[in-house]
Amino acid sequence: MKVFVTRKIMESGKKLLNDAGIEVTEWTAERDLTQEELIASCKEHDGLLSIGSNKLDAHFLQSCSHLKVIALHSVGYDHVDTETAKQLRIPVGNTPGVLTDATADLAFLLLLATSRKAFYQHKKILNGDWGFSNPSDTTDLGIELRGKTLGIFGLGSIGSELARRCKYAFGMQIIYTNRSSNLPAEKELDAQKVSFEELLAQSDAISVHANLTPETREQFNAAAFENMKETAIFGNAARGGIHNEKDLTIALKNGTIWGAGLDVTNPEPMDPGNELLNMPNVCVLPHIGSATIETRTAMLRLAAANVIAGLKGEQLPNWVNPF
Ligand code: 8YV
Repeated sequence: MKVFVTRKIMESGKKLLNDAGIEVTEWTAERDLTQEELIASCKEHDGLLSIGSNKLDAHFLQSCSHLKVIALHSVGYDHVDTETAKQLRIPVGNTPGVLTDATADLAFLLLLATSRKAFYQHKKILNGDWGFSNPSDTTDLGIELRGKTLGIFGLGSIGSELARRCKYAFGMQIIYTNRSSNLPAEKELDAQKVSFEELLAQSDAISVHANLTPETREQFNAAAFENMKETAIFGNAARGGIHNEKDLTIALKNGTIWGAGLDVTNPEPMDPGNELLNMPNVCVLPHIGSATIETRTAMLRLAAANVIAGLKGEQLPNWVNPF
């Protein structure tokens, strides 16, 4: 059995696969494959371990309907047409749970960094501007999070971990929107479920932790920013497609909202000339929510377990399109 992997992977992951008798081919170029290249490579293999942003759409899946498994190196699977995969009886697996803490930490970092204009202040040092300063110049001043209201858009495991950090570190009140009520979070964190309109109106900081779906796509648009507080921070560590970046830029420029912390952008990668990168109240990171050695190692372990199960014809331990 042979698996095609779209990146070079850690030895620990390769060993798990090799020990299970699976031959591993890695894509070693420092760029994503084109769809044609991916199809051609998959045709020579029994399984795919997909790392990165390749769209696994109906055309890809129909061209590679022989695949016994598609293992994703991510918890999100919005880049995969899982319904078509199901019709073709290709099991798709993801890596849930293991990236919860790392991603919540990063969302917390972004909230704090944005509230204190940390990236802008860092750039001032690089630009030789750490000289004269006026303590009353509000361009240089941040805002504090203590006692404020955090609105979580999508209170699953990552959102709950962020809420926990914000409640215990800053005594923040937690409100949230979610498809269903999160009773453990309501009990432990006094989190209160509200409507989307209430979330916008009441939050001092909003953090997005929902899946990208047709319903959530660009839900944070001009109308949404218009209904937020002028002093509010918008954070997104989920998927860039959930906000409209042009509308966000205008809202920040006009002072409709106060600041933004983004680990995900729309599109990705962000253009280096994007004006958001030079705004004092904005912190942007290049989609690194899960980027710790511990988490990436654990993600690879789960992805390898999905590959091994799929190639043996067994049920994937983390299966997103059961049939
Ligand atoms: C990245 C993520 O995909 O798990 C997810 O859904 O967004 C991240 O972990 C990362 O690039 C992993 O390959």
